Amino acid sequence: MDFNDKVVVITGASSGIGAAAALMFANQSAKLVLVGRNETSLKNVAAKCELAKGNKPVIVKAELTVDEDVKDIIDKAITHFGRIDVLVNNAGIGIQGSIRDGIEPYDRAMATNVRAAYLLISLATPHLVKSRGNIVNVSSVAAFKPIRDMDFLPYCTSKAALDQITKCVARELAKDGVRVNSVNPGATRTPFVQSAGLTKEQMEELYKARDKTLPLGKMAESADVADLIVYLASDRARSITGSIYVIDNGEMLS
Ligand SMILES: NC(=O)c1ccc[n+]([C@@H]2O[C@H](COP(=O)([O-])OP(=O)(O)OC[C@H]3O[C@@H](n4cnc5c(N)ncnc54)[C@H](OP(=O)(O)O)[C@@H]3O)[C@@H](O)[C@H]2O)c1
Repeated sequence: MDFNDKVVVITGASSGIGAAAALMFANQSAKLVLVGRNETSLKNVAAKCELAKGNKPVIVKAELTVDEDVKDIIDKAITHFGRIDVLVNNAGIGIQGSIRDGIEPYDRAMATNVRAAYLLISLATPHLVKSRGNIVNVSSVAAFKPIRDMDFLPYCTSKAALDQITKCVARELAKDGVRVNSVNPGATRTPFVQSAGLTKEQMEELYKARDKTLPLGKMAESADVADLIVYLASDRARSITGSIYVIDNGEMLS
């Protein structure tokens, strides 16, 4: 896999799966646009990426629920690199909530996990058509089934919607040579559940339990998921579009 001269935009690159994907793309010589809110973390990730092959990533500090910030991502990518080959819509938040909690958790989950990705895809499309590039959306097994032991209705709903975006846009852009795919992780060791309001201690407890109960006896690491993202974004996946790839250590079996 070689991303020499390819420009890859990654949201949520400051942490977890996005940071691991950034490093993997950097090792394959990609030119990177790293998006997140935490500038210090973005700079740390960018420094590691630059060490890989000497390409200095562009950092874009963006709050994805603000449309101007989303537009700024595409503007900066084009100003710096003149093209976009790959868009990885990875940023996401875990929002707990049940149907009794009213509409607010739904709006928050949809704003980051769906609306921002929709807008970014829309703005990136002319550039991806030009480069015959591709999109990888990071969804979740929660798109298919409720989380076993938590009320996670807003999150599950948002990921199911994201999968439908993947399929509809894949169909629409296939004739332009643009591929669109989804990576749907199960439990993956990142700070993610803290965004859903769990404390560090609760997170560690939950992860210990997942390590015991998942069929393969372990959670995924960020790099496992990043591997699949990079594969789908590469030319080796040239015949794959509109596909939803589960990576879950067998979670869907139980
Ligand atoms: N970890 C899991 O178990 C798991 C399972 C299934 C699916 N996923 C999905 O994997 C993706 C990556 O999550 P992760 O596990 O790597 O979690 P993470 O470590 O918490 O990373 C989430 C990333 O999203 C960014 N982000 C969140 N809200 C944002 C906003 N409003 N504007 C801009 N950036 C925002 C964060 O940026 P800042 O930190 O800079 O604010 C961070 O870089 C998410 O879509 C998540 O739903 C994770």
